[in-house]
Amino acid sequence: MVSRQSAMVGTSDGTEQTMMSNRKGIVLAGGLGTRLHPLTRVTSKQLLPVYDKPMIYYSLSVLLLAGINDIVLISSPQALPQFRELLGDGSEWGIKLQYIVQANPNGIAEALILSEEHIKGQPCSLILGDNIFYGNGLTGFLHEADARTQGATVFSYRVRDPYSYGIVEIDQNGKALSIEEKPEKPKSNLAVTGLYFYDENALDIAKNITPSARGELEITAVNAEYLKRDQMYVAPLHRGFAWFDAGTIDDLMAASEFVRQIEKRQGQKICCPEEICLYREWLTDEALEIMLADRKNTEYNDYLRDLLAERQSS
Ligand code: DAU
Repeated sequence: MVSRQSAMVGTSDGTEQTMMSNRKGIVLAGGLGTRLHPLTRVTSKQLLPVYDKPMIYYSLSVLLLAGINDIVLISSPQALPQFRELLGDGSEWGIKLQYIVQANPNGIAEALILSEEHIKGQPCSLILGDNIFYGNGLTGFLHEADARTQGATVFSYRVRDPYSYGIVEIDQNGKALSIEEKPEKPKSNLAVTGLYFYDENALDIAKNITPSARGELEITAVNAEYLKRDQMYVAPLHRGFAWFDAGTIDDLMAASEFVRQIEKRQGQKICCPEEICLYREWLTDEALEIMLADRKNTEYNDYLRDLLAERQSS
């Protein structure tokens, strides 16, 4: 029988489920969220619901799917306590979660510098807390990127409005030619999504970039340095994939609606961290059962209860 998890992440043989990564994970979930006011006046954008779970679950789940279970979450001084309250130290899910404050939104690349102690000379994967990925074969893509020991891997996605993103230009062999942040004259329609796999040089590169015209340490500048070294790989997310950068109210609604449609139709959840941790064997059936014991009968909790029952009966 194909397990729920292998069906969810689109693996064919289920072997990916047990693969582990030595990479350190970084989730950047700060920023002011001003584009979503008043929704984000007293809470963080990445804690808003995307259908049935907080937005942050989706980015965390991508790292977990990649086999990464040692993760640092970076956010603003105001929002960090809320994330800590929601997620704790990760032990409930059998993973390790730590927290770092970003005093001001000085740029995405600052996440690498702030994580110096966490990375400790090791490769890392950085994901933006407002990015949502879904698609057949995602886990395979993640493992391929994870297995690359040198350079950077970015994931490209075709968009209609290339002015709003980091944009990568590639040749017919998929080799990167240029990368630019929100270009006025985009050289392609390929957006660079907010998920980055880096070797151990990322920290030094981030430390050596200078702030852009808008005063930020741009992640695109880090990627451009890897490109200059001929070490930036572009993994294309094909047209069957869904990628959302939930930055506006319409994006947020679209993401929620998408998740609702798929989950209702399939009866399987997208980016449910408990489920991923269970299949990765970081979380035991017993621990999940204890966790659920005093939880109310919400649709989410009942889904996990069904999952446990299914595992116990098979
Ligand atoms: O989503 C993909 C895009 O993300 C990439 O294509 C771009 O290359 C990349 O620069 C970024 O563009 P955005 O315009 O989405 O970046 P934004 O400033 O909105 O920041 C993205 C998220 O990161 C947002 O949820 C806030 C958070 N953030 C941002 C900055 C600059 C922080 O937590 N700290 C920061 O200092």
